Formats: sequence, C-alpha cells, structure tokens
Amino acid sequence: MSEMAQSDPEGIDGVRLTWNAWPRTKVEASKCVIPLAASISPIRPNLDIPTLPYAPLRCKTCAAVLSPFCRVDFGAHIWICPFCFQRNHFPHHYSAVSETNVPAELYPQYTTIQYTLPSSHQPDQSPVFVFVLDTCLIEEELEFAKSALKQAIGLLPDNALVGFISFGTQVQVHELGFSDMSKVYVFKGSKELSRDQVLKHLGLDVAGRRTGPGFQKAGQTGFPSSGVTRFLLPASECEYTLNSLLDELATDQWPVPPGNRSLRCTGVALSIAGGLLGACSAGTAARIIALVGGPCTEGPGTIVSKVLSDPVRSHKDLDKDAAPYFKKAAQFYDELAKQLVSQGHVLDLYASALDQVGVAEMKVVIERTGGLVVLAESFGHSVFKDSFKRIFEDGEQSLGLSFNGILEINCSKDIKIQGIIGPCTSLEKKGPAVASTVIGQGNTTSWKLCGLDKSTCLTVFFDISSSEKSEPSGNLNPMFYIQILTSYQSPDGQTILRVTTISRRWIDSAVGTEELVQGFDQETAAVVMARLTSHKMEMEEGFDATRWLDRNLIRLCSKFGDYRKDDPASFTLNPCFSLFPQFMFNLRRSQFVQVFNNSPDETAYFRMLLNRENITNAAVMIQPSLISYSFNSLPAPALLDVASISVDRILLLDSYFSVVIFHGMTIAQWRNMGYQNQPEHQAFAQLLRAPLDDAQMIIRDRFPVPRLVICDQHGSQARFLLAKLNPSSTYSNAHEMAAGTEMIFTDDVSLQVFFEHLQRLAVQSS
Ligand SMILES: *[C@@H]1O[C@H](CO)[C@@H](O)[C@H](O)[C@H]1NC(C)=O
Ligand SMILES: *[C@@H]1O[C@H](CO)[C@@H](O)[C@H](O)[C@H]1NC(C)=O
Ligand SMILES: *[C@@H]1O[C@H](CO)[C@@H](O)[C@H](O)[C@H]1NC(C)=O
Ligand SMILES: *[C@@H]1O[C@H](CO)[C@@H](O)[C@H](O)[C@H]1NC(C)=O
Ligand SMILES: [Zn+2]
Repeated sequence: MSEMAQSDPEGIDGVRLTWNAWPRTKVEASKCVIPLAASISPIRPNLDIPTLPYAPLRCKTCAAVLSPFCRVDFGAHIWICPFCFQRNHFPHHYSAVSETNVPAELYPQYTTIQYTLPSSHQPDQSPVFVFVLDTCLIEEELEFAKSALKQAIGLLPDNALVGFISFGTQVQVHELGFSDMSKVYVFKGSKELSRDQVLKHLGLDVAGRRTGPGFQKAGQTGFPSSGVTRFLLPASECEYTLNSLLDELATDQWPVPPGNRSLRCTGVALSIAGGLLGACSAGTAARIIALVGGPCTEGPGTIVSKVLSDPVRSHKDLDKDAAPYFKKAAQFYDELAKQLVSQGHVLDLYASALDQVGVAEMKVVIERTGGLVVLAESFGHSVFKDSFKRIFEDGEQSLGLSFNGILEINCSKDIKIQGIIGPCTSLEKKGPAVASTVIGQGNTTSWKLCGLDKSTCLTVFFDISSSEKSEPSGNLNPMFYIQILTSYQSPDGQTILRVTTISRRWIDSAVGTEELVQGFDQETAAVVMARLTSHKMEMEEGFDATRWLDRNLIRLCSKFGDYRKDDPASFTLNPCFSLFPQFMFNLRRSQFVQVFNNSPDETAYFRMLLNRENITNAAVMIQPSLISYSFNSLPAPALLDVASISVDRILLLDSYFSVVIFHGMTIAQWRNMGYQNQPEHQAFAQLLRAPLDDAQMIIRDRFPVPRLVICDQHGSQARFLLAKLNPSSTYSNAHEMAAGTEMIFTDDVSLQVFFEHLQRLAVQSS
C-alpha cells in the first residue's frame, strides 16, 4: 500500500485529500485545524482507466452515476445509490447483468471510468485559435514573436481555424479570406466596445450575416450563415496569407514622444478578440492566444499612465491603495471573463517584457477560463519560445488541451462544498450539497472549465453540516462518498465524461485518534494551506499571512503533538506530521507569502500555477528540491540548507519556476582549467554532465518551461540558490559555525530557531 502510494500518490482517481478519514461533526472537523479538502486532477491521463462506448446509468433521484460503491441486488435487478439510497432498476439493456457478468463500471478497481458521449455540439469540431499580437515592441522582440507565430501555425492541425489580430495604439482585425489583397478592420484603442458593436463593425451581426461577403462560404467550416469564416480560416488554407502578412507587419508606427510610454490598447484588443469569437456558436472549442510585450496604457484595461516616469504599480502601491488604475482594469477584465465563460472560450497569455504587462489585472480572465499563462523576459528567451512550441505539440509531449469542461460534484449527506480554488468558474447551481460559507468559486455543485488539460488541478473545500451526532453510531454508514463528474471535449473532438467515485471512512470518536492521524497527507495539506493563504491574501484586506500560518501550525502541534504541558523538551510529533512544520517554514519564506520581493505580475503568475499544478509540482514551488553531486557518491537529496554548499560539490536546485545548477568553488576552478576535456579526467567530465542531464529531464516535462540558471559559488547568479536555502549559518550566529561555510545575510529565523519557538508555543498551557 505505502509503496504504491510512493510511486503514484494520486492513484487511478487523481485525487488527494488533506485528511483520508473525516470526523462526523463540524466541531470535530474544525479541531483538525487543516481544512477538509481534496486536490483533484479531473482529466489526468491514466492507462488503467477504461472508456465505455455508452452513456452512464444515473440514479433517478440524485443523478449520481452507477459506481463500484453501489450495492447491487442481481436477483431483483436493482442497484442502490450510495448517495441517496434510492433503489434503481437496471434498464433493459442491462438485462444480462448477473453475478458472473458484471459491467465494467461495477468492477471494484474502476473507481474512475470514462464514457464517450454523443457530441452535443455541431459535427465540425475544428478548434479555433485567435492570435492577438502586440506590435508596440522593439524590432527585435517583434521578430522573435513573429517567428514563434509562424512556427505555431505550421504545427496546427490542418482543420484548425485561425484568426489574427494585431494591436498597438489601435486594433487591426485581419481578414484572412483573401490571399492577394489584405483587408483590415481598424478599431480605436481608446474606446470600449460591446460584443454586438464589435460584430456590427466586422459585418458579423444579423444584418451583416445575410449580405456579408462570407455568406457564400457558409457551411464550409461549421458556422452556418455566419460571416465569421472571413476571419477564421483553416490553417491549411491561410498559412501562406498569414506568413506574408507577418512578414510585412511592422512595429506600431504611432509616434511616441520621449519620456512617454507607447500607447498600447491590450484591453480593447482582447475584448475584440472575444467579440469575434462571439460570432461562433457557443461551445466552439476556441482560445485567444495573446502575445503581450508591455503594459496597457490606452483605453479600458489601462494599468499605468502614459508618462514613463510613473512606475507600474507595486505591491506597496496596492497595499496603500495607491494604484489608481488597478481596480478599474481588474473590473474590466472581470467583465471580459464573464463574457468568455458564457461563450465557453479561453484566454491564454504570453507576457514577455522586462516591465510588467498587467498579468495581475488579467489573472481573473485567465484563471476563470482555464487559460495558460507564461511570463518571460523576452520573446527570444527559452522560457517563452520552448513553452509556446509545447502548446502546439502532438503525441507524448502534448499538453492535451481540451475544451468545454463541466465539473459536477456529488457528496454523501452531511458533506457540504464550500467552493474551488483553481482554474474554473462557478455555474451558481445550488443544491443540497452547497455550503453556506464560500471559498473561491462557490455557491454551486457545478463549475465551468472552458479550458482544461492533462495537468489541470483544482482544490475543493468541504465542510461538515451536522453539528451533533444525532443518531446512534451503530446505524450510521461507516463510509462516505464523493463523486466527481467531468465532461469535456478532448483534443480529438470527442465528448468524454469521466466519473471518479471515492470512498473514505468516517471517524466517530474525537480528534487525535490513530485513524485520523494515519490519514493525514502532509504534502497535500501543505499545498492546500499555500493555496488558501494566497487566496486569503488576495481577498481579505489586511490579512497577515505569516501570523495566520503560525497560529494554525501551533494549534496543529498542540492538538497532535505528544508532550508534557509547559515542557518544550518533551515535545515529539508523530511521523505522519513530522514533515509539515518544515513545509510551513518554507511556505512562510516563499514567493507566495513574501510578495514584496516580486512584482504583482510575478505574484499573480506564481499563484495561478500554484493553483493549477498537481500536488507534487506545487510542493516543489513551496519547498524546492535539492540534489547534491560529488565524486565517490551517487547523486543524493541534500538538506535545503546553506550547510549543503561545499567547494567540491555541484548542487541542483529545482524550485519549479527555475532550475539552478550551482558549482562549488573547486569544481568551478577545475572546470575553468578545462580538466573535463582531458582524457584522464573522464570522471570529472561525467560529474559536470550529470546535473545538466537531470536538469534537462526536469525541463522537458514541465510547462511553462522553467528558467535554467547555471552558476558558480560566489557568482552573482548564486542568489537564485541562496534565496531558497535555510539560513542555518548567518552573521548573528556565525561564531558558532565552522570556518568556510557559506553565510547568508538575513533577518529570517533559521529552521532550528523556528522549531524551538514552535515547540515552546505548542506545549503552553493556555
Ligand atoms: C448530485 O448532483 C446533481 C447535479 O449537480 C444534483 O442535482 C443532485 O442534487 C446532487 N445530489 C446529491 C445527493 O448531492
Ligand atoms: C505623453 O504623455 C503626456 C502625459 O500623460 C500626455 O499628455 C501626452 O498626450 C502624451 N503624448 C502622446 C503622443 O501620447
Ligand atoms: C452566494 O449566494 C448568496 C445567496 O444565495 C449570495 O448572497 C452570495 O453573495 C453568494 N456568494 C458568492 C461568493 O457568490
Ligand atoms: C505531476 O505533473 C507532472 C507533469 O507536470 C507529471 O510528470 C507527474 O507525474 C505528476 N504527478 C502526479 C503524482 O500526477
Ligand atoms: Zn441517488
């Protein structure tokens, strides 16, 4: 069991819970300190999941799907729903079902199963890609962006429909239907337009559709009687036109006086892209792919003034309410998010700039629509280039981009859903399982996932509704159930319903029991706390994240530690909890809590990825992994501590967003002298190569592609490593340390001091 958990902690279900056994009452649940939550990966690929070519059987009362947890009376041809206890008759086409002829959905191992559904959309399932390109760029950046676009269009499937919009001070919507003559619709960048106004300008409103020049082509691409086919063409048909259009496309020509920023109307450009897609039928698999190289300064969505000497808002400005554009821009994007979600379309953002572009303001659209986001310094940097290529890749490396997801959750009585943190939007579908308190996207048992992919992950927060053990426990079912239904359109256009049903045990007795403790998942708990903390920092004014985390950790240790009151030295923690304090120590120091070291754009970016990645990846964002390479020993995990630095070692740090290879001083000297090129120093050459190979393995599987930093001890880039290490050796206690160990300037407490405080506070009487 534990070995299996090691290799694939998510199992066939793609679900991890903070607690794997739940107390029955609200009061007992709150004493657990860490919330009852599930991290779910709704369409994570797994070869063990069978796909059935028919529609699922559903309970006639609560609509839950037949699962291995249903009790079946083969004689009477009846199945009993574990959620509402309704007795359901098997329909005629299940008449052959018997003890010896069981359908796959009842096999005990198939707690997750898929059904292919007849498609409810139009027969043509061509995905739509609308590229939106910023032209307020320096020549070099524009060339990088253009070549990435050309490569992308070459990689698209032939039937994919492509649209192209460029923008600077104005927005240009390019009509791709003509190869000999390019036709462009120009929009002012300063004025907000409704979807209907956009459609009217483009001749795509009802009047335009009847007479529009696109009418003749109607039917060809699945948008009958819509002129949108003038703007969205199959990749195979428009590749030539688009390539020559890109060749001729110049940087924005609007004059920019010295001391001014370019006039860039990102907000209007994106809302026009949304309007254009509004001409497609709802449920069309469509994404807007925006390449943005600087801040919006014109029209709605503006994040900073036109005067270059006014800096873009910082965390300090946001804190002091001194960011005059922020609220208005965020509101504008909130409206755009609603529009795109109602259309079922996705916004992906590729931001490449040294300055901020407004990721913090646009976050709501990206996250609500399940879009992808990549933040890089330049369109020429591998973080952008290699990531961008990945989204169009096929086969093994494919991200598995899917569309039109609907997630529904059913639970046993007494379990309520507070909401979801992650890339989705509440569909506001009330039901008996909706909790009165809301976390994230709540007030619902059903969510829209316009865009989702192989690695999409969501955190569901639960609550227990019963306040007292009302019935004698003998009569109660010892198990509870949660069913997760995800329907979506797969990359090959099929409509799939994945059904995951999980079952866990209720605990009757009070907190602290062996069963509760054994069911604690430390890694998941740490990630859920990071997600909840980030969410509270964004939602609750004046929220003190460090204090909140500390208080909860102390409560947890008081509750579950073993100690004599007021005797810190007697404190011990069960192994089921022993890694958790260190996770909290690193979380307090991480970019998620110490936001002032980063820009609001970076923070928004880090948090979007924290929320949508799986637990393993999210844990690395909080607590990086460190591997040490040296002569005479195999690569081995090292403590995340400055004490791990040594002159004759190479360290490989994976902090998710960056991967750092750090050469100790002696290693660096030998390398500079070229020992690795001498035949008698093959072992040294191998030592140098090993961490590079391992770094490439990490980079290859990850999206967005992380930044690779290769540095030497005492070099300036070494800060990428040092910032992540426990400052066990600082100047305040330097006299105690052996000479030659690396020192970090910091006011942070070290892990050891943190633990000492924690033990002292956890054992206090009151
Ligand atoms: C199960 O989910 C469906 C759809 O969201 C809802 O109508 C039904 O009430 C739910 N049943 C229970 C027992 O939660
Ligand atoms: C340059 O910035 C100033 C200050 O915002 C503004 O008044 C002026 O119109 C700007 N010039 C242009 C060409 O946008
Ligand atoms: C949830 O619904 C209630 C009323 O049903 C409403 O007052 C509240 O604002 C909603 N909360 C959110 C976060 O949507
Ligand atoms: C988490 O995601 C990565 C890809 O980003 C994948 O390689 C890894 O197997 C996933 N882990 C689990 C437990 O699913
Ligand atoms: Zn039922």
